[in-house]
Amino acid sequence: MGVSAVVGTGIFTIIGSAIVGSSESAGAGTAVVISMLIAALASLFSALAYSEIAAMIPVAGSAYTFTYAAMGEFMAWIVGWILMLEYAIGNITVATAWSGYFVNLLKGFKHILPDFIVNCPLWLRNDFRSMYAICEKYDWNVHDKMPFLHLPFGMEIPIAVNIPAVFIVLLLTILLIQGVKESTRAAGIMVFVNLSIIISFVLVGANYVKPENWMPFAPNGFEGILAGTFIIFFAYIGFDAISTAAEETKNPQRDLPIAIIGTLVFCTVLYVSVALVLTGMIPINDIDTQAPLAHAMRAIGKDWYAGAISVGALCALTSVLLVYQLGTTRIFYAIARDNFLPQNIMAIHKKHKTPHIITWLSGAIVMLGSLFMDLNISAELCNYGTFASFIIICIEVLILRKTEPNRHRPFKVPFCPLFPILGIVLCSCFMLYKGFSGGDSSLYFLLWIVLGLAIYIGYGYKNKRNHEE
Ligand code: ALA
Repeated sequence: MGVSAVVGTGIFTIIGSAIVGSSESAGAGTAVVISMLIAALASLFSALAYSEIAAMIPVAGSAYTFTYAAMGEFMAWIVGWILMLEYAIGNITVATAWSGYFVNLLKGFKHILPDFIVNCPLWLRNDFRSMYAICEKYDWNVHDKMPFLHLPFGMEIPIAVNIPAVFIVLLLTILLIQGVKESTRAAGIMVFVNLSIIISFVLVGANYVKPENWMPFAPNGFEGILAGTFIIFFAYIGFDAISTAAEETKNPQRDLPIAIIGTLVFCTVLYVSVALVLTGMIPINDIDTQAPLAHAMRAIGKDWYAGAISVGALCALTSVLLVYQLGTTRIFYAIARDNFLPQNIMAIHKKHKTPHIITWLSGAIVMLGSLFMDLNISAELCNYGTFASFIIICIEVLILRKTEPNRHRPFKVPFCPLFPILGIVLCSCFMLYKGFSGGDSSLYFLLWIVLGLAIYIGYGYKNKRNHEE
């Protein structure tokens, strides 16, 4: 369960930006393996804290519900608001990554498909920021009239939209409205396909590794490693999925740490292996940031293998999209149930018995974001949200240990208060580091929090009070 919720965009796509860097942050180079170990450690402390609370307050709704129990209404709203960031914005990242691999897969069918599909104009499969980054990388001018570029302008503003990303979210939204069980079963099968593909990438790619490509190991020093940690943390998001099953384990005190640490170790070994093979196969500056694994295979002349990797990636990303799209609707539902959002959005579909309005709403937010948002910015924003919710969960463990010391805890964080404090310190350091190093995502995160506060003061608080009177 842990592996299926965790392995996805991080290892198939974001690893490229973590290694190479982006317009806003330095790349870690091969030292991304160090970034991965640090991100795993931050995830470990927080996942243990999640598990203690999940086993103690076994209700659906994840961190939002826990916060309501430990810290009250206002903090619950803030956490719910932050979780929307984690899930909905996270899904924008996944949808954008999906688009990158989809386009890559189409290239494998260049002999069968018409050219306008295989080489569809860049502005129809990229957001505007990525378009500019591509033009910069290849020294093109956005005003050039090459067939695949040919960027249209509306009122002097270049138009670029990611159509495949919107298409997949639309498809999954319709699927989720039809029924949840069928969708999650499909996600389970896809995990096996994607794991087999990643493992085979490591086994095949290892034969093409040239150790000289690993040097310099950390081209941007510690700064690159920290920036890499902030972004590659996305690859570890999803651990809370394990804690939600706390109730159903036979012996939570033993089974949860095994599941959490097992998933962490498995994913870290997998991620580090992929990183070493990828950085060893081709020089760091040649690594692609849209579909790095498939591109690396194509670079060594294995076109058919690049196609297979794209299929695996599409499976992985589709299953993550499905799980997170479902998560977004659940959070919306829990928040609306507490009267923070209009009640009528909770309406259940007569035939399919699913919360169709909320599902459409979640889908619409992600579709709109995927049209325009850059993958790195949305991943960073999602990481901000996740770090913030991890910090709050660790604080909750400390609060509840004081306020309700005698409550039955099927699972207890070992070495408390040290572990939750380490979780708080590590996650805060990353948020502060990113905040001080600037970039658009820091600004967007602040704006998101301010908007959340404004909604609470203007609507949620009043409504909640009226409801209680
Ligand atoms: N960890 C998940 C992924 O990498 C969110 O896609």
